[in-house]
Amino acid sequence: MPLNVPPTAAREPAGARGERVYVKSFGCQMNVYDSQRMTDLALAEGYSETSEIADADLVVFNTCHIREKAAEKLYSELGRARETKEARAAGGRATKLVVAGCVAQAEGKEILRRQPAVDIVVGPQNYHRLPDLLRAGARAVDTDFAVEDKFDALPAQRSRGASAFVTVQEGCDKFCAFCVVPYTRGAEISRPAGKILQEIERLAATGAREFTLIGQNVNAYSDADGVELATLLARAAKLPGVLRLRYSTSHPNDMGPALIAAHAEIESLAPYLHLPVQSGSDRILAAMNRRHDAAAYLDIVAKVRRARPDIAFSSDFIVGFPGETDADFEATLALVREVRFASAFAFKYSPRPGTPAAEAGDQVPAEVKEARLAALLALLETQRQAFNRETLSRRFGVVFDKPGRHEGQLVGRSPYMQGVHAECPPETAGRMTQVEIVEVGPNSLKGRLV
Ligand code: SAH
Ligand code: SF4
Ligand code: F3S
Repeated sequence: MPLNVPPTAAREPAGARGERVYVKSFGCQMNVYDSQRMTDLALAEGYSETSEIADADLVVFNTCHIREKAAEKLYSELGRARETKEARAAGGRATKLVVAGCVAQAEGKEILRRQPAVDIVVGPQNYHRLPDLLRAGARAVDTDFAVEDKFDALPAQRSRGASAFVTVQEGCDKFCAFCVVPYTRGAEISRPAGKILQEIERLAATGAREFTLIGQNVNAYSDADGVELATLLARAAKLPGVLRLRYSTSHPNDMGPALIAAHAEIESLAPYLHLPVQSGSDRILAAMNRRHDAAAYLDIVAKVRRARPDIAFSSDFIVGFPGETDADFEATLALVREVRFASAFAFKYSPRPGTPAAEAGDQVPAEVKEARLAALLALLETQRQAFNRETLSRRFGVVFDKPGRHEGQLVGRSPYMQGVHAECPPETAGRMTQVEIVEVGPNSLKGRLV
């Protein structure tokens, strides 16, 4: 769709007179980051933030297209938003309804057709143009991949507590046979290291302490000057206020020697790695176009464990990929038993329009997918609980930043992303605080300051 935006010589703010913005994020961490950036954009345009959709003059749904259910959620959400919009209109208040994110990219003007209450459809590479689109006033679709760098056009990111996401890489060139991401997010691009470090510095100066560098294939990071993720992490670790670093999501094929060594060398790099494997069957991995087998995955796990013995792993799995037999599924369970994951996500394969696997003839029946998912989730849950129990009596640093359920309690994250609560004096907030784990619950740990 051609862009229908007038030049903005005299830029009026897009929001004024106490107008409010409501942003709802679906899907992955990158959408969380993008949602925060869209909120920052709206704030710079004079809006204030609201958590009540009925109070919002501007409503943004930042959507996910990864599985059918995720995409369908949007339309039920939009149906409700339309009612809110009509109710507000009856009271003399206008509402702009924006669909952003990966469904916007994938479905474009189809969204305007299916839900006439929608005003603007904007893709993940174009949301910096939202103020111009709003000023233009007309219904519009902007999903051509932007040539300019959206990050240059965005206002500075505000910190939101002790932990922050920073996008370092976007897009994907891997084309796994099941996945929409290469189509919705486009080709792999890496932001310049200098600009990323600036963003981290700014966030640290305003209170952020734990940083997760994010990308669809974050470990494929390589900027125009050849700076790779291991170097970027090492540089980020030296910035004042940066107390803990993580990165997500990684592809096994991009876990090179320098990055593995970084786990040994960078003290503040959390001993926790999300490394999706999807399946333990070589046949299915090949059909998925993952370009590695189970042995290669186990080899990387072993190497990272040698570099950082206290590391824990998490992963993503898909069950019921076309052609998956009982034996293939058994191979997945075997891999899970061998690795012992601290936590993991598992999904039923969902055929996505336009991806090669959706066309395959040997789709797995729904009830088989259901049974495999239940079996895999049960095994993963056993491992998660076992891992949680193993943290009992261990000591590690936690950056506490949020008030807990009880008076005098603060909550933060363990190096392994577990929620930890402890009785803390208020001045511990935002600092790296050593705790010993004294109690392990099903979903959180209790720590004691040491
Ligand atoms: N870039 C990351 C994450 C991609 S999306 C990676 O390479 O792993 C997050 C997860 O969603 C994937 O790891 C995969 O497990 C799952 N997923 C992607 N497409 C899917 C589909 N069509 N059906 C079910 N799960 C899917
Ligand atoms: Fe999707 Fe595969 Fe790319 Fe991950 S690596 S985003 S699963 S195509
Ligand atoms: Fe979903 Fe797009 Fe993220 S499809 S998982 S929001 S990259």
